[in-house]
Amino acid sequence: MTTFAVPGSDELVLQECHEGVVLLTLNRPDKLNALSAALLEQLSDALIELEDDEEVGAIVITGSPAAKRPAFAAGADIAEMAKMSPLELRQHAHLGQVACTMIEGMPKPVIAAVNGFALGGGCELAMACHFRYAAKGAQFGQPEINLGIIPGFGGTQRLLRHIGKGPALELLLSGDSIDADQAERLGLVNRVVEPAALIPTVIELARKLASKAPVARRLILDAVIRGADLPLEAAQALEADLFGLTGATIDVREGLSAFLEKRAAKWVGR
Ligand code: COA
Repeated sequence: MTTFAVPGSDELVLQECHEGVVLLTLNRPDKLNALSAALLEQLSDALIELEDDEEVGAIVITGSPAAKRPAFAAGADIAEMAKMSPLELRQHAHLGQVACTMIEGMPKPVIAAVNGFALGGGCELAMACHFRYAAKGAQFGQPEINLGIIPGFGGTQRLLRHIGKGPALELLLSGDSIDADQAERLGLVNRVVEPAALIPTVIELARKLASKAPVARRLILDAVIRGADLPLEAAQALEADLFGLTGATIDVREGLSAFLEKRAAKWVGR
């Protein structure tokens, strides 16, 4: 494990380690954790470092609890975007898309712990995570249309894939927000919990995921994330290839032997 920072520091993304799990906290509480270019760059840098860290089996992303109103992230930084030329706006969209694509492609589960507003880029970032837990009262939405712009961090596409065309278009075209319970009903959120229980619940879950067979964990993510955009036949072929690949690991022998010997498996991640 590497970087650590304490709440109140100047870091825009704080890192905290919890036995195999890293909690990343978006840290711009005075701006409801709005996603500035510098924050997105720090987030991408942190992800690059965590991707290959074998001690880290799962990642949780949340928003600083120090914000004056509970916030995961209230969007891309509007003040920053207001000064951008069209080319700079395109570059900014690219920066956000790189971070979101990196999250989605991580070889270990990334869970969004949504503790308040997840609007615009905040909703897009949460949607790029492998799944979402939300605090009661959290708000999800793509209000870009109210600013005369459209989502630029992959939101039109991920919202469509998460909740389907009709509900996605209603949210995108109205700019309205939905609360955590509505988001859960639409399948955007896995589970809603009381605000105080959010981080303990998600860290406990992340620890459990981190304790599972590392290669199988990585291949399941690969099969689901890469398979989701393939025709069923090609996606099943991908699954069969990845299934076959598990046969080449030390962990498959360990997992099968441990079951037959009625003992807990000891994974080596190879
Ligand atoms: N970008 C930059 N700053 C933002 C921001 C964003 N997306 N969202 C909030 N902030 C800032 C506000 O400007 C304010 O800063 P200030 O205190 O220096 O003036 C601070 O965060 C608190 O926000 P404020 O609007 O005063 O809080 P509120 O409780 O009245 O309203 C929201 C909360 C989320 C409803 C409101 O901030 C909002 O609509 N934000 C923008 C949401 C959005 O359109 N996101 C998509 C952007 S593409």
